[in-house]
Amino acid sequence: MSKILVSGGTGYIGSHTVVELLSAGFEVAIIDSLANSQIDVLDRIERITGKRPEFYQFDLKERHDTRAVLHELDGIDAVIHFAAYKSVNESVNNPFKYYRNNLQSLMNIIDGMIRNKVKYLVFSSSCTVYGQPDTLPVTENSPIKPADSPYGSTKQISEQIIQDAIRSGIDIKAIALRYFNPIGAHESAEIGELPNGEPDNLIPYITQTVAGVRPQLKVFGNDYNTPDGTPIRDYIHVVDLAKAHVTAIKRLLDSDYKSNYEIFNLGTGNGSSVLEVINTFEAVTNRSVNYAITERRSGDIEKIWADATLANTELGWKAKKSLGDALLSAWNWEKKYRNL
Ligand code: UD1
Repeated sequence: MSKILVSGGTGYIGSHTVVELLSAGFEVAIIDSLANSQIDVLDRIERITGKRPEFYQFDLKERHDTRAVLHELDGIDAVIHFAAYKSVNESVNNPFKYYRNNLQSLMNIIDGMIRNKVKYLVFSSSCTVYGQPDTLPVTENSPIKPADSPYGSTKQISEQIIQDAIRSGIDIKAIALRYFNPIGAHESAEIGELPNGEPDNLIPYITQTVAGVRPQLKVFGNDYNTPDGTPIRDYIHVVDLAKAHVTAIKRLLDSDYKSNYEIFNLGTGNGSSVLEVINTFEAVTNRSVNYAITERRSGDIEKIWADATLANTELGWKAKKSLGDALLSAWNWEKKYRNL
């Protein structure tokens, strides 16, 4: 049985991926600082899968600890590196926090992998690396534009760090997964998206508004060059996204793959506007969303959606769940979490 180390494994995408890994028969160890997640996620993972992953709480910025844990965890076959800060807004106001954390943690992980002879890495990247693309949908070969935020820069630089490390001759093979907009929750409603404080992202803002935790959703602008004036994104169910990590790990562990470094877009291939998301949410949950149109949010791009053909054909992965499935699961999670 292969053992996978998941950094950020109690976080939103990390916890869903841990569930899929355990269900697929992998052993899992988690490293998380709990900076943006809760320890009870481990109980929740255990309730879903009947298995409890090993857990190490520390900050990956501490190089010595990272090396030591990788050493202690002798027998790790691959690493999935999720652990990073992810608020676009916060990164604009506190760029060093983002550069220091997101880049140092990645370098420490790679350093720990080299020292402990772990060969395979899956990295959490983002469609943010494309900025506002000139043509849609975006393929993996679409140009990398200047990032709109320090958060976006850290994802671009992280991809570069991995490529440079591999080019330097170390024995590591990596897959970078560029996520579009992950949303939704596990069907058990045991795990889901639980941001600290006021959410930045659309779906937790919608579910918290309907749950009565927030008074009103602000729709950031309806004067974009899109059919209804609101921005378009490719929203992908987090469980579909989590399954892609299992596929990527199997590809790395299987000696048949071709390259030392690969990149895949993970999206559905469909774009939805903010108003379409709200309308779909209302239709599948039978609840109404109290919202108002406000000013644009600075740094928002107008529209982006994925060409996921490469992931479909080469990785053998395809998003299966609909926007409605994802929104209903997000609401079920919010309801269960708040005992509604
Ligand atoms: C951004 C990043 C993404 C990152 C994610 C993590 C870009 C292009 N994307 O996603 O890489 O992983 O943050 O936080 O930089 N909206 C509202 N009201 C709200 C919240 C959002 O109208 O209260 C709208 C936004 O204007 C946007 C859409 O909803 O059009 C989605 O926003 P959000 O969920 O924050 O995700 P992105 O900004 O696309």
